[in-house]
Amino acid sequence: MTQRRLFVTTALPYANGKFHIGHIMEYIQADIWVRFQKMRGHEVNFVCADDAHGAPIMIAAEKAGQTPQQFVADIAAGRKPYLDGFHIGFDNWHSTDGPENHELAGQIYRDLKQAGLIETRTIEQFFDPDKAMFLPDRFIKGQCPKCGAKDQYGDNCESCGAVYAPTELKEPYSALSGATPVLKSSEHFFFKLSDPRCIDFLKQWTTSGAVQPEVLNKITEWIAPGEDGKPKMGDWDISRDAPYFGIEIPDAPGKYFYVWLDAPIGYLASLKNLFAKTGRNYETFMADPAVEQIHFIGKDIITFHTLFWPAMLHFSGRKVPSAVHVHGFLTVNNGEKMSKSRGTGLDPLKYLSLGMNPEWLRYYLAAKLNAKNEDVDFNADDFMLRVNADLVGKFVNIVSRSAGFITKRFGGQLTHHFDPAGAALLQTLTAASEPLAGLYDQREYGKATREIMALADQVNAYVDQNKPWELAKDAAHNERLQQVCSVLINAFAVLSRYLAPVLPTLAREVEKLTGLSLASWHDTGPVRAIAPYQHLMQRVTPEQLEALFEAPPAEQPAQAAEKLDSDPNLLPDLLPGGEAIAPAITIDDFAKIDLRIARIVQCEAVEGSTKLLRLTLDVGEGRMRNVFSGIASMYKPADLQGKLTVMVANLAPRKMKFGLSEGMVLAASHADEKAQPGIYVLEPWPGAQPGMRIH
Ligand code: MSP
Ligand code: ZN
Repeated sequence: MTQRRLFVTTALPYANGKFHIGHIMEYIQADIWVRFQKMRGHEVNFVCADDAHGAPIMIAAEKAGQTPQQFVADIAAGRKPYLDGFHIGFDNWHSTDGPENHELAGQIYRDLKQAGLIETRTIEQFFDPDKAMFLPDRFIKGQCPKCGAKDQYGDNCESCGAVYAPTELKEPYSALSGATPVLKSSEHFFFKLSDPRCIDFLKQWTTSGAVQPEVLNKITEWIAPGEDGKPKMGDWDISRDAPYFGIEIPDAPGKYFYVWLDAPIGYLASLKNLFAKTGRNYETFMADPAVEQIHFIGKDIITFHTLFWPAMLHFSGRKVPSAVHVHGFLTVNNGEKMSKSRGTGLDPLKYLSLGMNPEWLRYYLAAKLNAKNEDVDFNADDFMLRVNADLVGKFVNIVSRSAGFITKRFGGQLTHHFDPAGAALLQTLTAASEPLAGLYDQREYGKATREIMALADQVNAYVDQNKPWELAKDAAHNERLQQVCSVLINAFAVLSRYLAPVLPTLAREVEKLTGLSLASWHDTGPVRAIAPYQHLMQRVTPEQLEALFEAPPAEQPAQAAEKLDSDPNLLPDLLPGGEAIAPAITIDDFAKIDLRIARIVQCEAVEGSTKLLRLTLDVGEGRMRNVFSGIASMYKPADLQGKLTVMVANLAPRKMKFGLSEGMVLAASHADEKAQPGIYVLEPWPGAQPGMRIH
């Protein structure tokens, strides 16, 4: 098989708000595909970036009393907990305000001008007389000129998908001030999309297999000639007048690129930035005709990605997208389509902070997604059923019913002498490899997970036929028991590999359990021995789902009023101490950590370190412990000497530059040490004695 070279992106989210669950769905869809391709041995460069520019962000920054640069930097700083939290493995995250994008946008514009596809025209545009500025499309609202839908934005209709000029809206009003806008003239730059060369190219590109059939139908409508013989879609206005947060147009002072011109160029900018960081050559990579450029996007931004973007690339002499994969919208509990700016219903960070497993959501979305741009509904009852009955009940159960016997009765050793039925079962599982790979590649994740669950059903039927718990009752059946459980563990490893693109963390746990590598799609079995089994996945509880959808506590009236005025998106995340609460653990997990009261018998500075203090601790063991602690910025040795504190007494000793550290002292700090410096040592209430355990 030849190695594919893939350049994969997801849409660049506007940097004016935190992620909502719709964004997370898009990232999970793409991430599953990327992980699958990597497992197949292909080269994948998976990038995204913040879409930083545009008037809405400029206006939001002004409201927040920040420069647009500060504003978008704050938004960017909040991305990590979501991406890490849901195991989304971008190779790079950048910004459309980065230097690469400024440079690339200028180059692409010059190339398009050279090709004779840029022209200037004086146009009349809406001007807000109250705010004394030209109104950005998104801040003019009115009725769609095509279908009559109310409250549509000035650039395109979310109801029928039409693209038009804001001046075509019926009964327009300014969303900034409510004033009726007045027309004022100004010189604008246009990309001549209606040029016959563009139409010819688009006809060819859109029918080359780059888009889904349902997307092609839409495009065909847009580029078909209207009554006047010209395509319905007109030329594209790519400039905006100052004041604007964006990239200035070369040789045109006071004129900026419309945000949708430089936003997709941000895909290239992020890749270029990644290549610079990793010492690779961006130009060579992009010049390789074998490189496939693939964009994952939602159905609301099809025009930008299937008309403007491929034409911009083609006529500036660049590689065009190989495919644009369009998904539908996520709705929550049969709710309305989520507002673009105000995700409703399911707060991704709240999900994590409740200790809900991110891989439940990945599995659930995979089970619902297909290659069409149909909407997907998150339904709480359905979620619980699929996770508890299918993922845990059918799949994880295979190992939890067999691993214990192998550990307790056979010292962790498996046999490779399978019974004929077991061998046939494993054969069936292995044979599903290529068909499943085809489904992943085609983004038919729903079909793939259904196939995998059907295989799990067959494995469970084998369990029921052989009843390992019955075999275990009589030592005479020892050999059978080992055989059956060995088949089950091997079956589980194969299914885990098939689910690894969806459940990457679970796959890592299964690797530890079985000693196999699940990093490649190729079979690396059989399993020879297993490590002691620890629970791989809990079930969802109704309480968790209730808490997830519980309305946030009622607010004080003063706060509520202030909130109406500001974008709800700009409110701080609910991140206690700057980080989400870690996933739930059981009381048994907690009991593994032995916390003890310790007396700080001696405390001294560490020569050669500005951070560390050396503590001599008495935990009532009749010996002293030496512990290094990074608290020198907060305490002088004399502050601590003689005091009581809490330590982790059973932490494996660690060799440090300055000596052996035999435990750890508990101290509190904010997750972002730079923004909120300070570390605070814990001290017990009077009465506690060295050696007492904390329960
Ligand atoms: N900034 C533009 C994209 C520029 S790409 C060069 C934008 N940003 S967005 O933040 O509004 O949306 C980012 C992505 O999230 C889009 O692909 C959009 O379709 C997707 N989604 C927004 N709401 C969604 C759902 N409710 N469900 C699924 N995807 C959704 O558009
Ligand atoms: Zn419409």
